[in-house]
Amino acid sequence: MADLKGLILSGGRGTRLRPITYTSAKQLVPVANRPVLFYGIEAMVEAGITEIGIILNPETGGEIRKVAGDGSQFGEGVRITYIDQSSPAGLAHAVLTAEEFLGDSSFVMYLGDNLLQGGIQELVAEFTQNAPDAMILLQPVDDPKSYGVAELHEGRVTRLVEKPAEPQSDLALVGVYLFTKRILEAAKAIEPSARGELEITDAIQWQVDQGDRVEPHVVHGWWKDTGKLADMLEANRLILDVVERRVEGHVDADSQIDGRVVIEEGARIERSVVRGPVVIGKDARITDSYVGPYSAIATGAVVERSEVEHSILLERAQLIGLEGRIESSLLGRNVVVRRGERTPRAYRFMVGDDAEIEIL
Ligand code: TTP
Repeated sequence: MADLKGLILSGGRGTRLRPITYTSAKQLVPVANRPVLFYGIEAMVEAGITEIGIILNPETGGEIRKVAGDGSQFGEGVRITYIDQSSPAGLAHAVLTAEEFLGDSSFVMYLGDNLLQGGIQELVAEFTQNAPDAMILLQPVDDPKSYGVAELHEGRVTRLVEKPAEPQSDLALVGVYLFTKRILEAAKAIEPSARGELEITDAIQWQVDQGDRVEPHVVHGWWKDTGKLADMLEANRLILDVVERRVEGHVDADSQIDGRVVIEEGARIERSVVRGPVVIGKDARITDSYVGPYSAIATGAVVERSEVEHSILLERAQLIGLEGRIESSLLGRNVVVRRGERTPRAYRFMVGDDAEIEIL
């Protein structure tokens, strides 16, 4: 379907991932050393979508523009249009912000911090074939109270509730939607919610109330919203689980590399054990250390005399001389965590707002 467009929502506040989001967009946090956002762009390109709009928060959008560029790195003919959203006033507000870009086209809307296994090809085909007024993706979850939830009746969506106190269904809305231009009308018709946002659930509910055909599609693969740390680490785990071994950096004779491990060019592993699945970025240095399963170490990061597992280190982060294992952690760019040699052994911190340090 040639004229289906893509809209990726990469604005928002990102409060749940502070302090990382004070200085960068959460959609750029790497999962297996690639920005989360790239997985969404690639899913669209794979489904044949080449006209992609990306909604930005003007405060953090500059870096996204730089990293994703004009789109040509994602394939021939791929074109990205950037759209600044005046304020993070909700997902339906983001859709309205994109009105000019969308024109009369139907489109796939993809939340820029979400990951969906298996891509969207099949969904696009189903949407094209059935031509409903909207299609939403759903997945059963254990704690529906934390999600937007859909109630179904005879294969149709009958009601959508944002974070229901008493859920009538366990089907959560996955962050991928297929819309016709009708959603613009819906977004204009609704009022802001109690939290002051134009909610996409309210817009879709408006469509249901108008008698539009809103089709559900239950997804069976995994789906991750990486908006909080635990989910980000989980997404990292899921993606690392399918990486293929590739060792291009230097591994010295005193090191041991086990399992599915990617070691990028220029990385150096010295007197260390790396147990996959692990990705170690360009020019990173691992010395006298253990890097355990589900770790993603970004470009230029350093791990020295330390042990790390199930963690993400961003560019140039450094872990030096720590006792005990670092686990389930996210270290921002240029963060240094170092244990000194002096006695008495004491702690000294210079840590930004909203950081969290746990000595376990
Ligand atoms: P959310 O994660 O629901 O919202 P948020 O980014 O403001 O984060 P938090 O709740 O932690 O403060 O947003 C889902 C996706 O949609 C995310 O990629 C950001 C994007 N988004 C927009 O582009 N515009 C918006 O107005 C909002 C609310 C979100």
